[in-house]
Amino acid sequence: MLDVYVNIKSLMGVHSTPVTVLKGKAMDSIDTVDDAYLIVRDGRVAEFGPMRDFKARYANGCGADARCHDLSGCYVIPAFVDAHTHIVYSGSREQEYEDKIRGLSYAEIAKRGGGILNTAAHLHSTSEDELFDQSMRRLEQCISFGTAAIEIKSGYGLSTEDELKMLRVIRRMKECSPITIKSNFLAAHAFPKAYRDDHDGYVDLIVNEMIPRVADEDLADFIDVFCDEGFFTVSQTACILEAGLKYGLKPKIHANELAVSGGVQVGVEHGALSVDHLERIGDDEIACLRDSSTMATALPGASFFLGMPYAPLRRMIDEGLAVALASDCNPGSSPSASMKFVLSLASIKMRLTPVEALNAVTVNAACAMDLAGEYGRIVKGGKANFIVTKPMPSFSYFSYAYTEDLTRQVVVNK
Ligand code: NIG
Ligand code: FE
Repeated sequence: MLDVYVNIKSLMGVHSTPVTVLKGKAMDSIDTVDDAYLIVRDGRVAEFGPMRDFKARYANGCGADARCHDLSGCYVIPAFVDAHTHIVYSGSREQEYEDKIRGLSYAEIAKRGGGILNTAAHLHSTSEDELFDQSMRRLEQCISFGTAAIEIKSGYGLSTEDELKMLRVIRRMKECSPITIKSNFLAAHAFPKAYRDDHDGYVDLIVNEMIPRVADEDLADFIDVFCDEGFFTVSQTACILEAGLKYGLKPKIHANELAVSGGVQVGVEHGALSVDHLERIGDDEIACLRDSSTMATALPGASFFLGMPYAPLRRMIDEGLAVALASDCNPGSSPSASMKFVLSLASIKMRLTPVEALNAVTVNAACAMDLAGEYGRIVKGGKANFIVTKPMPSFSYFSYAYTEDLTRQVVVNK
């Protein structure tokens, strides 16, 4: 199958050198071909370049099997990589949304047994098949928003059987999904009711029972801990990450959402692929990230939805760091998988330029989920994963017009 896209207003993200991570100032540049063509053969990028080359090379057409797409006025950008989601869950939590409107905080709701525990109870009484169906519908929506690779966490099971149920659902999704999925084992998301007064007992259960079973069935790529005030401590986090590392599970953690928790440091010390949230960070955390290969990942959807501060990405980029952005799609703190909205929030609320934000959800996000170099850019010979926009006056218009549906087509291949 041959698809020929012509008259593309601008083809973005065609990094010619093998870029795997963009830091500091480099985040504000992107390799682009204006007035371009792009040829996709059997799901791979066969060639691209300026239209003048196309006209010279293909004066007699591209062959009878070619499907031609005229993209006058449209942009082509790399498809998004969503490196932090919780899209396997059951039900929804709009009751808590109302509680928040009436003045309760996320932490107060969690303390009352709401929040993560609420979704865990729902998930417990949902069959694996039903959970799979609900989650597949969400995945389809993610793809329609332009996502071509996604990380999905467990963490609403909080018992061995229910955590395994979630991870088996993710495995089934991997098998039938048209996009790449990575699974992240997050039993350390909250303390279940039975362990309310025995936190170390739950850590023991994770370390000695859950992790070996997860590894035995090869159900996870990564391991995660919610290292924050009121949740898992730094030493509990270290203990869980070390147990996971023994089985080859790479850390990617939740840190510094509710307080300066020490999560950044413990993540970096354990070679985490990413430390995520970072709404509360100071000089020490920034210094620690600067000397590491851990990706700082912000989740502005959660800040928006919970009315929290935004991670200080402007400062972090100015200080030379590499940053990524993800949706954090989940029923409690970020019920949206729209990466376009994430781009808008990054620019409107965090002062990233539209190009910095795009690099944060493509090249750098791929790095945050161990897909560096493979996803997040358009390269010759690489898998064709891109978004075709509707006609737009400029690339900045894409996130500026923050409620306008500007996606004309999403092309994904894994
Ligand atoms: O990343 N912060 C912890 N976990 C999720 C929220 C999960 C939930 O509230 O259901 C997050 O925001
Ligand atoms: Fe999260």
